[in-house]
Amino acid sequence: MDLQLKNKVAIVTGGSQGIGRASALRLAQEGASVVIAARGRELLDQVALEIRAAGGSVAAVQADVSRAEDCARLVAEAVGAFGRLDILVNNAGTSATGEFESVTDDIWQADFELKLFAAIRLARLAIPHLKQQGGGRIVNITNTGAKQPRAKSMPTTVTRAAGLAFTKALSKEFAPHQILVNTICIGLVRAGQHERKAAKAGVALEQYYAKLAKDIPLGRVGRAEEVADAIAFLASEAASYITGTSINLDGGASAVL
Ligand SMILES: NC(=O)c1ccc[n+]([C@@H]2O[C@H](COP(=O)([O-])OP(=O)(O)OC[C@H]3O[C@@H](n4cnc5c(N)ncnc54)[C@H](OP(=O)(O)O)[C@@H]3O)[C@@H](O)[C@H]2O)c1
Repeated sequence: MDLQLKNKVAIVTGGSQGIGRASALRLAQEGASVVIAARGRELLDQVALEIRAAGGSVAAVQADVSRAEDCARLVAEAVGAFGRLDILVNNAGTSATGEFESVTDDIWQADFELKLFAAIRLARLAIPHLKQQGGGRIVNITNTGAKQPRAKSMPTTVTRAAGLAFTKALSKEFAPHQILVNTICIGLVRAGQHERKAAKAGVALEQYYAKLAKDIPLGRVGRAEEVADAIAFLASEAASYITGTSINLDGGASAVL
């Protein structure tokens, strides 16, 4: 299937590791010019090298998307580098969960800044450029926990539930401009955050993933490349009649549609 991403320009936040890295590689492979953003320079540069080595076009922007000024600089640098913007993938984030009574205002605030306000600000900055192209795509990465919040899952599940509402409201408002907005609700996917958790717990990585896989009907934790495929599809012409929806990418683990 030709995804028709040649000449398109995509921003992928959190593009230096895990799902963001895999998505940036996939979009570049399909012909899009990709702008990857993360706080850490080293991994960002490594991914940029990988994309260039595979013949792709990329710009790496060091940015903390929980800061409004960095979001503005990111979009400006993307448009400065490639002259247009067509696709925004709001992916940067990390899990934040705890016992409710131990989650302070600062933790709540930081989670909203990283996972909700970054998406809000980047969408607001990107939309004028998407309109200029006669349309575009926004893909918000969220979490299946947004639809079925469990005990001790805050602030993440609340922030992510807001991300679902944001996706739907934005899709309705900008459909007349052919800006299609969707979310992928992730279950468990192999990525840097799990490698760090396993190392912290002193557990071998495969043992850690095997334990997580016990409650997943497909019997394994997902791969970042599997999310990347779904992102590339939603960003492409193949998904031209899909907007305002969510896809559970969780190996069947979620109890809800
Ligand atoms: N993997 C899963 O099982 C899973 C499950 C549910 C939801 N998700 C969501 O999927 C997304 C990707 O997660 P992942 O598992 O691929 O994580 P990961 O491997 O830890 O990668 C996270 C990426 O986000 C970047 N990032 C973090 N904070 C940032 C900030 N303030 N500004 C800019 N970039 C930032 C990181 O780079 P720097 O640290 O250098 O900034 C890194 O590139 C996240 O939103 C996560 O919540 C993942």
